[in-house]
Amino acid sequence: MHNKTLGNLLFAFPFMLATALAANSCASVAADNVKPPLMQQGIQFGDLNRGSIMVWSRSNRDARMMVEYALNDQFTDSKIIRGPYALSVSDHTAKQELTGLPLGKDVYVRVWFEDLTNARTKSAAVSGHFHTIGAHDNIRFVWGGDTAGQGWGINKAFGGMKIYEAMRRAEPQFFIHSGDNIYADGVIEATKAAENGLIWTNIVTPEVSKVAETQAEFRGRYKYNLLDANVRAFNAEVPQIWQWDDHEVVNNWSDSKDLSADPRYTVKDVPLLVARAATAFKEYSAQRPHSADEPDRVYRKISYGPLLDVFVLDMRSYRGPNTANLQTVESAKTAFLGKEQVAWLQDGLKNSKAVWKVIAADMPIGLNIGDGTVNNIPDGTPRWEAVANGNNGTAKGRELEIAGLLSNIKKDNVKNIVWLTADVH
Ligand SMILES: [Fe+2]
Repeated sequence: MHNKTLGNLLFAFPFMLATALAANSCASVAADNVKPPLMQQGIQFGDLNRGSIMVWSRSNRDARMMVEYALNDQFTDSKIIRGPYALSVSDHTAKQELTGLPLGKDVYVRVWFEDLTNARTKSAAVSGHFHTIGAHDNIRFVWGGDTAGQGWGINKAFGGMKIYEAMRRAEPQFFIHSGDNIYADGVIEATKAAENGLIWTNIVTPEVSKVAETQAEFRGRYKYNLLDANVRAFNAEVPQIWQWDDHEVVNNWSDSKDLSADPRYTVKDVPLLVARAATAFKEYSAQRPHSADEPDRVYRKISYGPLLDVFVLDMRSYRGPNTANLQTVESAKTAFLGKEQVAWLQDGLKNSKAVWKVIAADMPIGLNIGDGTVNNIPDGTPRWEAVANGNNGTAKGRELEIAGLLSNIKKDNVKNIVWLTADVH
């Protein structure tokens, strides 16, 4: 009997977060007086699906990733995978896929890094575990977004990013991060005025003390979140599905983004910022790389058997510029998901055999979300950041694409669709 519910659907919302900065307390094995690699960012699991998962970690220097896994915490009959090199080209991040995993089992994993010259010089192992979803299991997951936004960073006195510990205790089988994994354009200062005259204190690193422009600054944002012990403990137990939104790059970015008058930015070239941001996102997310036709693709489907398919959208990479959003005919300017992604989604929904189809959206489709005015003229025509245009008439602008999608879903008679997002975005 399988239960046609999603089990307990939990909502979690990790913004205004913080925690204790735990030192890497692991003992390590040194040989030949060479310092062993360190794993200061712990491990992460990503894109769990039927029988496979990605394992992520980072070394502090050139090394090789090693992954051991077993179906028991004693690691009896374990398998050891000689994983990828972790070199400076990827900021020493590395990912290894585990495949052929049995369904409905606890899988125990330990990861370490070996020196390239001498394998006996290795980091202490960091362990974690996760549960593969059985064919007839109930499914329980959490979702949320917007990590360390608006200057609310890791506050040790507050206990750090405690929402991650609350989510971990709920024992979800996976977590969907709906986007804004970092706030690349939000400066995190040592103190910030909070409600009722209280002062919020933040851990601060050089990379979060200014807007992210260089490759190192984008990478430093992800490293900042991983300073939090709650986050690292969560990452070692709860597989994640990451999508991205605007703050991985810069607020409300699109082809019409103009940084020329923003004194915080020396780099005014938005596509260059996008490239650096996408590089850091790819390095630090445990996402499974897409196939060779589009290796960096973020939108993807993740299947969990008869109960659930998750359609993860990318509402950033294929949109036209933010405009007044009142065009009456669809064109490149009104694209939001873009033709290919819409066709992929429509097809996927139509052919899905799963009882529930969750659409993970990095932005809401119905809320009016403004983006200043057209040409930045005070009191000028509103410019729109999301789909809706605040005009109560027939569908216009980006609404045309979503209206078409919804009509086709109705025409194809697809049932049990649940849209998820976090915040206004
Ligand atoms: Fe956003």
